[in-house]
Amino acid sequence: MGERDAAKRVFFHTLGCQMNDYDTGKMRALLAADGYASTDDPELADLIVVNTCSIREKAVEKMHSVLGEYRRAKRSRPLTLGVAGCVAQERGEQLMAKYPDIDLMFGPDGVPHVRELVREAVAGKRVLDIDLLDLENYPFVSEVDPAQSGVGAFVTIQKGCDNACTFCIVPQTRGVEVSRPWEQILEEVRTVVARGARDITLIGQNVNSYGLKLGGGVTFAQLLYKVAEVPGVTHIRYTTSHPRDMGDDVVQAYRDLPQLASHLHLPVQSGSNRVLRRMKRFYTRERYLEVVAALRAARPGMVFTTDVIVGFPGETDDDFEQTMNLLHEVGFIGTFSFKYSPRPGTPALKLEMRDPVSDAVAGARLTRYQDAQRALSLAWHRALEGSTVPVLVHGWSAHDPEVVMGRTSDFAAINFPGDASLFGRTLPVTITRGFTHSARGEASR
Ligand code: SAH
Ligand code: SF4
Ligand code: F3S
Repeated sequence: MGERDAAKRVFFHTLGCQMNDYDTGKMRALLAADGYASTDDPELADLIVVNTCSIREKAVEKMHSVLGEYRRAKRSRPLTLGVAGCVAQERGEQLMAKYPDIDLMFGPDGVPHVRELVREAVAGKRVLDIDLLDLENYPFVSEVDPAQSGVGAFVTIQKGCDNACTFCIVPQTRGVEVSRPWEQILEEVRTVVARGARDITLIGQNVNSYGLKLGGGVTFAQLLYKVAEVPGVTHIRYTTSHPRDMGDDVVQAYRDLPQLASHLHLPVQSGSNRVLRRMKRFYTRERYLEVVAALRAARPGMVFTTDVIVGFPGETDDDFEQTMNLLHEVGFIGTFSFKYSPRPGTPALKLEMRDPVSDAVAGARLTRYQDAQRALSLAWHRALEGSTVPVLVHGWSAHDPEVVMGRTSDFAAINFPGDASLFGRTLPVTITRGFTHSARGEASR
C-alpha cells in the first residue's frame, strides 16, 4: 500500500549519554531517506527503536521497563521493534533469545547501516548485527539530524574508546577509537551553524586523543582552532576529556581562542591515588590539580564540572575523604556522581569479589558528596548576584512562559524575561538571584 509506505513513522526512545542522543539523530536522518517520518508518539509508530545504555545496572533496568511497554504494544498492532545501542552490543544475543518479539538488534556500530538493517527487519527477518566495525574505514554518517535545531549542537569527532578503565563497559560497547576526518567535522559544524547553532559541543569518549592514531589528520588542539574559524560559532565546548591526555597545546588554545568556553567537564572519578590506580586512570590527584591550575592560568576564572564514582571496590573512608576534599580544592560547580555499579566483563569485577563496598556505605558517601556539591553549586550561582554577564540565549526556559534561558561562557544557566527574537544572540544580563542549578536575571539596557 503506497499511501501507508509514504507515511511510515519511527519513534525513538533514547536512554544514556549524548552519544546515544547523537546516534539517534543520525538514525533519524538516515531513515528519513527511506521515507520514515519521526514521531514523538509511540502509538503512531510503525517502527520503534529503543537506543539503550549499559553504563550502570540502573540503565539496563530502565531498558527492560521501557521495552516491556513496547512489547505489550506490539501484541495489539503491527509494529517493528528494534533495540540499538550499548546494551544491544553487550548482550544482544541473550536479549534476542529471551524476547522473540524483538525484530532487530544492533549496537552503536550498526548505526551507519541502519537503513539496511531496518529494511531486512521490515521484510520479516530477525536481524542481529553486533559486529564491531573495521576501524580503517569507519563510515561516519554525514547526514545531519533533521530534528536538529536550536542554539546548542553536538558534533561527533571520534567514536569508541581505547582506554580500559577497570569499571567501564564502554570499550566493549563502542569498540575501538576512530577519529573522524576534520573536514567532515567542519562541514557538520557549518551545517548546524547555518541552522542556528552557536554553542558547539564536540563529542567523543576521549577527545584529547583525537587524531593521534588513525583518521583525524590534525590534533585535537588544531581542530579547536579550525572550529573557532567557522563564522557564527560563539562557544566551543567538548566532552569527554581525559585528564591524562590534556596537552599544553590545548591549554594554549584557551589563551588564543575566546570562543572556547570557560567551563570544562573533566571527569576525575576519585580523589584518591590508590583508587585511581585500581581504576587504571593513569593520572594522579596531583596531576589532575596541575591540569586544573594550568587551565586556570591560561583562562582566569575557568570553572570545572566532573564525574565521580563512590564505592569503587576497596574504597576506604580515607580514600573517600580525599574525593571530598578534592571537591572543595577544585571547587567543582557540578558533578555527575554515582555509586559504583559492577559491569559484566570488566576487570573491576575481580576487585569487587574480593573487596566490595557495602551498598549502605556507598549510599551514605554518595549523599554526603552530593550535599556538599549542591552547597558549592548554590554558592557559585549566588556569587554571580549583582554582576552583569554576557549570556548566549538558547531558547525558552523549561518552566516559565516569557522567560528565556541562556548560558554564560562558563555554562551557568541564566533565566530572564525575554522573547524568541533573542534566541542565538548574546546580551548582557544582570544577575538578580542564584539557585543551585541556575540563576535569574534581567537583560540590562
Ligand atoms: N569517557 C568518559 C566517561 C564515559 S562514561 C571518561 O573517561 O570520563 C560516563 C561516566 O559514567 C564515567 O565518567 C563514570 O563516572 C561513570 N561510570 C562508568 N562506569 C561506571 C560504573 N561501572 N559504575 C558507576 N559509574 C560508572
Ligand atoms: Fe570508559 Fe575510561 Fe573510556 Fe571513559 S576513558 S569511556 S571511563 S574506558
Ligand atoms: Fe553512553 Fe551509556 Fe553507551 S553512557 S556510551 S550510552 S553505555
